Amino acid sequence: MPCLTLAHRQRIPSDFESVLEKLLVVDQILSEFLLSKEELEEVMRRMRREMERGLRVETHDEASVKMLPTYVRSTPEGSEVGDFLALDLGGTNFRVMLVKVGEDEERGWKVETKHHMYSIPEDAMTGTAEMLFDYIAGCISDFLDKHNLKHKKLPLGFTFSFPVRHEDLDKGILLNWTKGFKASGAEGNNVVGLLRDAIKRRGDFEMDVVAMVNDTVATMISCYYEDRSCEVGMIVGTGCNACYMEEMRKVELVEGEEGRMCVNTEWGAFGDNGELEDFRLEYDRVVDETSLNPGHQLYEKLIGGKYMGELVRLVLLKLVNEDLLFNGEASDLLKTRGAFETRFVSQIESDTGDRKQIYNILSSLGILPSELDCDIVRLACESVSTRAAHMCGAGLAGVINQMRERRCQEELKITVGVDGSVYKLHPRFKERFHKLVWEMTPHCEITFIQSEEGSGRGAALISAVACKMAACMLTP
Ligand code: GLC
Repeated sequence: MPCLTLAHRQRIPSDFESVLEKLLVVDQILSEFLLSKEELEEVMRRMRREMERGLRVETHDEASVKMLPTYVRSTPEGSEVGDFLALDLGGTNFRVMLVKVGEDEERGWKVETKHHMYSIPEDAMTGTAEMLFDYIAGCISDFLDKHNLKHKKLPLGFTFSFPVRHEDLDKGILLNWTKGFKASGAEGNNVVGLLRDAIKRRGDFEMDVVAMVNDTVATMISCYYEDRSCEVGMIVGTGCNACYMEEMRKVELVEGEEGRMCVNTEWGAFGDNGELEDFRLEYDRVVDETSLNPGHQLYEKLIGGKYMGELVRLVLLKLVNEDLLFNGEASDLLKTRGAFETRFVSQIESDTGDRKQIYNILSSLGILPSELDCDIVRLACESVSTRAAHMCGAGLAGVINQMRERRCQEELKITVGVDGSVYKLHPRFKERFHKLVWEMTPHCEITFIQSEEGSGRGAALISAVACKMAACMLTP
């Protein structure tokens, strides 16, 4: 949060006035990132309105928040035991996991995993769908070789972290890519079909694809095994999204009135119909215009790790141009798009006060900062990441308040399962985010749990349930 201390006055008495003047201008520029309570309440209200529009048949097509039914009809009870393969595609890495679901005397289940990470080459991300899915099938084949499993036809759960319109648990079309993926020929097609075709093309192993889930859903399911009150899943990583258990009668896109179904909100697209125009700043517009999907995922672009570092870089450039930072000169690296990584934001805000970490990061970008420069850079990081935490918190408060009203409960006691690099690795994001959500959700008792291995484990667990029952049973 931008704030001026007297420390600089004490250290630099000779040019006190010019320093103070500089800091006041810096503070003014950064204060644009501050959102008042009223503004955050407005964001929450607009989010709720779009969520409602996404759920309703008449308004679904034009709603920015798509509220996609997942066909996960329950937080699962009994499941099959045995070996499951889980795939996790959605960030810069692709993971293949072997998940052993077993029985545990105390908790009734036990999960063990072995996994391998493969980085996705740029050309597979932005080439053709065939190239991407051939690459994925190649990774599975390699994993099966490593674990001597080629001969087995294992059930497979696929965590696919993009907007999918499901027709069933194991069938759904990709609506649009997000987060820098662009493989052509995938949008509008059945994702499980693309995977099955690629496995067939290879012909060296067989798989039984039983479930495809979003990462938010996988996280919720995986946390549900720790805590039976977990009915919300959220990711704050490269992208940002949430899912929750909605009353079936409100999920108009799917027939049936009884019980609940998990809805993947795809809230990252909130703002794509102009709902955030009065909150978006010049930096947000540049980040969007230079992205692979301009005009899309505007809420996500305020929060997600794919964009946070770049936002800070643009703020720093603005401060340099205003002659408020680095003596008015930016290094070539600082002028390079993407050079200021999101992990730098976390590292800078983790600095213990001696500015060593900040100094080292800035030096690696070709800058020799003064102490005051280091402090200003930290303020810029805090401004961007605090706004992200608050924006995201307003969205989650909207989801939870809606759940409480729907359920007509005086008090809603609920657990939110969370995963993602920004949430896990940023030193203050969690705390700022939790505080805001608690403030904005009266009459709710919210517990946050962090999911470990959530994405893959959740996909395997839902597959285990799907294998046990022909269809998932509903246990509201
Ligand atoms: C993007 C995707 C969404 C995913 C989120 C987090 O918003 O569209 O499906 O859940 O990123 O990975």
